[in-house]
Amino acid sequence: MRENKTQIVIGSDHAAYQLKEKIKAYLIESGMDVKDVGTYSEDSVDYADFGIKVSKMVSAGEYERGILFCGTGLGMSMVANKFPHVRAGLCSGLFSAIMSRRHNDSNILVMGGRVIGEELAKEIVRVWLETPFEGGRHQLRIDKFDRIEEMM
Ligand code: RB5
Repeated sequence: MRENKTQIVIGSDHAAYQLKEKIKAYLIESGMDVKDVGTYSEDSVDYADFGIKVSKMVSAGEYERGILFCGTGLGMSMVANKFPHVRAGLCSGLFSAIMSRRHNDSNILVMGGRVIGEELAKEIVRVWLETPFEGGRHQLRIDKFDRIEEMM
């Protein structure tokens, strides 16, 4: 029953490889269908390569949600937010994770493997997946993001 599972694409660099693996296990245990685009070890890589892979898939609508990890989460969020239709939120606490869904309809969650621990990261993922977008005035606000490219 693959089509009934929430599909999610994840990726990290070496700095957050361990956290990605732990969150991957948590997502699978929670019944999700997880696509892991790498990295697959702690050998040094460039975070942009993995940020691009995940963001491309979310931007194209192949996956509704993605999760990215790097050391701080900063580089991955900078990469992800360059893609059309991607709204990536860097979260190191529960309030940001909830609000990134309620007000920003974030479709990529970004976390820093050198910033937060496993248990907090799991809680952030849980609330981020459970919290709905409020729509209304917030939809009108995020609609303006799509017009940015036309202004360039
Ligand atoms: C890698 O050392 C580190 O720069 C990367 O994981 C990330 O924190 C970049 O923003």
